[in-house]
Amino acid sequence: MSGKNFKALVVEEEGEKNFVRSIKDRSTDELPEGDVLVNVRYSSLNYKDALSATGNKGVTRNFPHTPGVDASGIVAESNSPEFSTGEEVIVHAYDLGCNTSGGFGEYIRVPADWVIKLPANLSLRESMIYGTAGFTAAYSVLELERHGVAPAKGEILVTGATGGVGSVAVSILAKLGYDVVASTGKTDQAQFLLDLGAKEVISRDESRDESGRPMLKGRWAGVVDTVGGEILVTAIKATKPMGVITCCGNVASADLPLNVYPFILRGVKLIGIDSQNCPMDLRLEVWGKLAGDWKLGSLDDLANEVSLDELEENIQLILQGKQKGRVLLNLTK
Ligand SMILES: NC(=O)c1ccc[n+]([C@@H]2O[C@H](COP(=O)([O-])OP(=O)(O)OC[C@H]3O[C@@H](n4cnc5c(N)ncnc54)[C@H](OP(=O)(O)O)[C@@H]3O)[C@@H](O)[C@H]2O)c1
Repeated sequence: MSGKNFKALVVEEEGEKNFVRSIKDRSTDELPEGDVLVNVRYSSLNYKDALSATGNKGVTRNFPHTPGVDASGIVAESNSPEFSTGEEVIVHAYDLGCNTSGGFGEYIRVPADWVIKLPANLSLRESMIYGTAGFTAAYSVLELERHGVAPAKGEILVTGATGGVGSVAVSILAKLGYDVVASTGKTDQAQFLLDLGAKEVISRDESRDESGRPMLKGRWAGVVDTVGGEILVTAIKATKPMGVITCCGNVASADLPLNVYPFILRGVKLIGIDSQNCPMDLRLEVWGKLAGDWKLGSLDDLANEVSLDELEENIQLILQGKQKGRVLLNLTK
């Protein structure tokens, strides 16, 4: 049987370190082997997608390539008894969009054990407003709670607060009754963060201590860090006894120049978040929260909806740290 033709963003390597992006016609015959062929309706733009789209070999080794770590859509063909044609599904993370053709195209083919049935009470569109960034935010909040953080314990700091992970984290924490302090480099977007439910907005400069002191006055009961580097170091030093910090990103820096005192004198806990390899049982628990008790009423306020043609300008914005909220890719446009 001949394959179906479809449109996709294709990144090609032209000469050394020159990566060119264009919308091309592809065939499902070119997709990798797999159990489930999905007709993708929505995807989203994550920081990692922008790295893949601009030739970061730590994310994507071989080009030409179609990025997109997120996809939601309809099962078009299935060799798996778990999934039937016509079913609505989500696929995100694992190797999707890294070295497996991703959600910036109208079709993906993936192993059945990467596929999640769309939870009740969530549309395909809503699932991709969350996408991997929203999933990572919810996973981070779940880890804070699992380690004993609760609204009565005190303030929660969210760094990179206007970004994809940050903005969803602010929104979920506020919905759960936490006092959220949002740290941002975009102080002109303070009202956006207050509207999401932040109690206070602080600047990136205020979030970075340059005194070199081994510990700072304890303020945070919990921290959702999305940026790494000195902002994460400062947050750890300013976390209250028995407080919990989650760490998922490195847009500021991958370095962590720190000493052991916050851990041995205050018992603070630093929890790593890895959504890509998150096991399926935990993945389902997080999606259950996103579709259930934690579902945001204001999801549309976070979303900037774009077509394949409009991805390019948004890739450039996210690389410069200028993106706000979530970029939803509508492949039906
Ligand atoms: N571990 C995982 O499983 C996982 C999953 C998803 C994402 N991530 C990582 O999490 C991070 C955030 O992802 P995202 O999709 O939310 O990206 P994003 O939408 O670009 O958000 C990142 C935000 O960080 C802030 N920022 C940017 N550059 C900065 C700098 N040099 N110094 C300090 N802050 C800076 C900006 O927010 P403000 O202007 O508001 O400060 C920016 O909007 C990325 O590193 C991504 O790779 C990891």
